[in-house]
Amino acid sequence: MRFTLIAVVAGLGGLLFGYDTGVISGALLFIRHVFHLGATMQGVVVAIALAAAAVGAAFAGTLSDRFGRRPVLLVTALIFVAGALLSAAAWSVAALLAGRVMVGAGIGVASMLTPLYLSEIAPPAKRGAIVTINQFYITLGIVLSYGVGFLLSHSPEGWRWMLGVGCIPGIILFIGMLTLPESPRWLAGKGRDDEARRALLYLRDGGNIDDEMHDLHQDLATTGKRTPWSALFTSRARKPLIIGVGLAIFQQITGINTVIYFAPTIFEKAGLPSASISILATAGVGAVNVIMTLVAMRLLDIVGRRKLLLFGLAGMLVTLLILSVAFMIGLHGGLALVTVLSVAAYVAFFAIGLGPVFWLLIAEIFPLAVRGRGMSLATIANWSFNMLVSITFLDLVKGLGRGPTFLIYAAMTLATIVFTWFLVPETKGRSLEQIEAALEGDAKLAT
Ligand code: BGC
Repeated sequence: MRFTLIAVVAGLGGLLFGYDTGVISGALLFIRHVFHLGATMQGVVVAIALAAAAVGAAFAGTLSDRFGRRPVLLVTALIFVAGALLSAAAWSVAALLAGRVMVGAGIGVASMLTPLYLSEIAPPAKRGAIVTINQFYITLGIVLSYGVGFLLSHSPEGWRWMLGVGCIPGIILFIGMLTLPESPRWLAGKGRDDEARRALLYLRDGGNIDDEMHDLHQDLATTGKRTPWSALFTSRARKPLIIGVGLAIFQQITGINTVIYFAPTIFEKAGLPSASISILATAGVGAVNVIMTLVAMRLLDIVGRRKLLLFGLAGMLVTLLILSVAFMIGLHGGLALVTVLSVAAYVAFFAIGLGPVFWLLIAEIFPLAVRGRGMSLATIANWSFNMLVSITFLDLVKGLGRGPTFLIYAAMTLATIVFTWFLVPETKGRSLEQIEAALEGDAKLAT
């Protein structure tokens, strides 16, 4: 019970990730009029937070190794609060961008540190499920941001509240983190054994922790040493690196965030009658995302990662093709309905495959000694390509049209299917050591 409560508080980092990346879609409908933003500048408002997130992810590992997970998460919560308030009060484009940079840096740190802290405080047997809880929180944050967006969509100044409300989970995270212990693994790694024992005792509600302390020490003996970044590029880590960074890039260039960030704009253009109805349709799509992530959590360990990933990708390909054709032929009157349904189906297929499977696989495939660095590099790639897609989307639509733009994402999805088919192993039911050995020996797991 105590652990569940702790996971709920620590997971708020994922909620902030989702809320702060999702809220911009609704806010943008108003901001672009207030500050007279063209297509490129709208892209910049979205993308600047993502660039800051890539930088945040790059520093999160090093900072939290040095100062501890807890202090860095506490400072991150404060940065979130300050960034949300600054964006809400923005009196100029520059102030808005400064606020978005702060929020973005916070998201980047949280996207690395939330799963890291959760995995370090979790009982070993529950680690896998907890990695996917983070994705669940992300989708919950996104749908909350849409809900807030809808409620506030009638007031011209509502966008300020949409951005400002982000400070509430930030404050809760800060207060919550004050009551949580430092990661026992980090404390033991620093030689602070007594404190590590006390933290673990608290986390396990006073239960027997001797075995876990023993495992922790053994684990640290093999993985606690400082590994240089260059260790990532040895032949042992090459295949996991290609899979991890490859999936990070594919997760973004198949277009998910054009929908997450710009859905109301897409729906408006497809003929939905008003901004608030577009935001409401977007909230529906966000709910589908949450529900299908819950379904994925149940299925991942039964059906397997590879099968779910391929199934989800096939579904994404079909729905993107429908979307593309619908926009190209114009579908008089029916376009709005076809668009909303295909977008919802596309998100459902992402949520059951590429969404959770990417974050899960990068926690599973790297050799222990380079897991942190490998995850960090994959996370940086993920945010960088997130930015690239977001900044080019509106310009692509303007230059090529909606139909051809979605056709490009369909082609990328086809490439992801080929990549997955030939390279991505099944990891279900295997120990991390077995996965490591199989990838190293280049054994074919993928059958
Ligand atoms: C992705 C995010 C995306 C979210 C949507 C995550 O797995 O990394 O970029 O916004 O899923 O649910």
